[in-house]
Amino acid sequence: INCNVSRERRHILEVLFNGLRRLEYRGYDSAGISIDADGDVASAELHGLAAPGFSPLVFREEGKIEKLVTSVYKEVNETDLNLNQAFTNHAGIAHTRWATHGPPSPRNGHPQSSGNGNEFLVVHNGIITNYMVLKETLLRHGFGFESDTDTEVIPKLAKFVHDSLTEETKSGNGGGKDIQFSQVVMEVMRQIEGAYALIFKSPHYPNELVACKCGSPLLLGVKEIGESENRGVFAESELRLAEDGGKPKEFYFASDASAVVEHTKRVMVIEDNEVVHIRNGTVQIYKFEAGKARTASGGLPRPASVERALSILAMEVEQIKKGNYDHYMQKEIHEQPDSLTTTMRGRLIQGENGKVKGVLLGGLKDHLRTIRRSRRILFIGCGTSYHAGLATRALVEELSGGPVTMELASDLLDRQGPIYREDTCFFVSQSGETADTLQALEYAKACGALCVGVTNTVGSAIARGTHCGVHINAGCEIGVASTKAYTSQIAAMTMMALALGEDTLSNRSRREEIIDDLFNLPDKVKEVLKLDNDMKMLAQELMMEQSLLVFGRGYNYATALEGALKVKEVALMHSEGILAGEMKHGPLALVDETLPIIVIATRDATCSKQQSVIQQLQARKGRLIVICSKGDANLMCPNGGCRVIEVPQLQDCLQPIINIVPFQLLAYHLTVLRGFNVDQPRNLAKSVTTS
Ligand code: G6P
Repeated sequence: INCNVSRERRHILEVLFNGLRRLEYRGYDSAGISIDADGDVASAELHGLAAPGFSPLVFREEGKIEKLVTSVYKEVNETDLNLNQAFTNHAGIAHTRWATHGPPSPRNGHPQSSGNGNEFLVVHNGIITNYMVLKETLLRHGFGFESDTDTEVIPKLAKFVHDSLTEETKSGNGGGKDIQFSQVVMEVMRQIEGAYALIFKSPHYPNELVACKCGSPLLLGVKEIGESENRGVFAESELRLAEDGGKPKEFYFASDASAVVEHTKRVMVIEDNEVVHIRNGTVQIYKFEAGKARTASGGLPRPASVERALSILAMEVEQIKKGNYDHYMQKEIHEQPDSLTTTMRGRLIQGENGKVKGVLLGGLKDHLRTIRRSRRILFIGCGTSYHAGLATRALVEELSGGPVTMELASDLLDRQGPIYREDTCFFVSQSGETADTLQALEYAKACGALCVGVTNTVGSAIARGTHCGVHINAGCEIGVASTKAYTSQIAAMTMMALALGEDTLSNRSRREEIIDDLFNLPDKVKEVLKLDNDMKMLAQELMMEQSLLVFGRGYNYATALEGALKVKEVALMHSEGILAGEMKHGPLALVDETLPIIVIATRDATCSKQQSVIQQLQARKGRLIVICSKGDANLMCPNGGCRVIEVPQLQDCLQPIINIVPFQLLAYHLTVLRGFNVDQPRNLAKSVTTS
């Protein structure tokens, strides 16, 4: 946040804390904040700061954000820090961390500092890969390091750069010009490697903030824009306070829109290698060019500023609130009839009034011919998004007639697997920011393949970096365990399969049946959600178990993997999804009277094979829970002895959307009963923006 409105320090703290609360789902093992102790000599001395004017205060705590909030207010109460003192200009930064280098602890939290006096403070999302080399150099220059983080080299490097440039200027090499904050940052960027979104704050540049990024997401929100900027483009590359009658403004940098939307819907997605400098109510955007050498005189070249468009967020504040639910995951599970409706809105053609029944995917329509002609389709993703691809693989193969290869993004990168110009790669990602998926996208683009995005986040790196794509429009998903995004991904990719098959007459009736069932889908999901209480009872039975197996095949192999993943990631119970066809090749050895096994056996072409699996498991006294289609209990378990969960039946290819819901409910209730954090499972983060 950088504001030039008359505001109290308490307000500034609260804005930053609230922003952190919104972003906590991205990482939650430590948090920190820095605001200014403007003119407050006593507190500056107390905190050992160099200069009282604009001296930054820094607070860092291990654990959840509320712990930081409590400790900041405690310290404020114990000192003479006057929170009611008003500012007309103020720059503050805050951070919630997901540890990569160094365990969670206050000293490893952000902001990281250049050292005593906090001359440069930095918050960072990403990983600096060459930090060891930089650290050695800085150590040689007399810098001491206090943390185990890769980030700490950045503020130290900023101080080193600032001091060197100042020295050069004094000695006449810089032409006597002042060193700009953005120049310091660009020189730092020239030396660091890796992925980063960074925000810099410094008492050398009071009330200024500089942010930059490469690889990790970052956006700028602008509040209270005057008439002149309503056209959505910064006039002459910048937004000046003076030009709109000095209207006060607040600027917000954040990793994603959820931290900003309660203040403003006007945002600018910052691109890689852009440097955004906020100063005196003015935004200046520079393009950093790595190759641009320093001028002959030793000074930094001033890169041309760039013009960028502001966009308006479609997100509503309500979407990111829990409403009447106890947890985001619970809300998102129960939201699925609505999120699926939104995914399909305007995209299904009912076939009335002479219209041909079909689907319309605006972002794909110009590329369908190329995709159909491609030599191979690849589905690339991580975690739940990979499972969504797996759930739709068979339908895409059926309707397009071509092969679909599944790729976990990290494995594709590890192998540097072959990708050809004639391939079409689909990048499936809820956040659109997952580092491995993003790197796989760069790799596939370099191989010349057509790249298609399937994301939930408009303006995300994957949405912007692909040639075309489909937004799944599931709405903001906050729970770390993906639920509604998964079902919307399957719905969107099913529509994609239908679009790909539209040039073939022979599959027309199949396509029409699927479209009919897509219309029925939200009501069927409502129906399966009524199992909530049954799944709670099952969770009570299973809550003390160590382990759980899930058997599925065909369309529901993905359901087995995804169901097991839900239980594993939130309920912290070992669970394994198994392809039922592989049962005899190992998993059968685990079967006994105690280990709970869930078998998915809803009606489809593999159903009779699942019947046989159930019988073989029963013959070994397996403790079975069978998920089958309504009315099939006796058919699937003729001898009784298993617990049966009946679910509504749709077209086979849509059944994974129905079948995953009982698992989502089971995982949710198991987590609550076992006393774990539903929305922020241990060690996990929603958007994995580091490899
Ligand atoms: C993390 C999240 C998962 C998600 C996966 C891929 O592991 O916890 O919920 O499925 O990343 O994320 P993406 O945003 O690419 O779908």
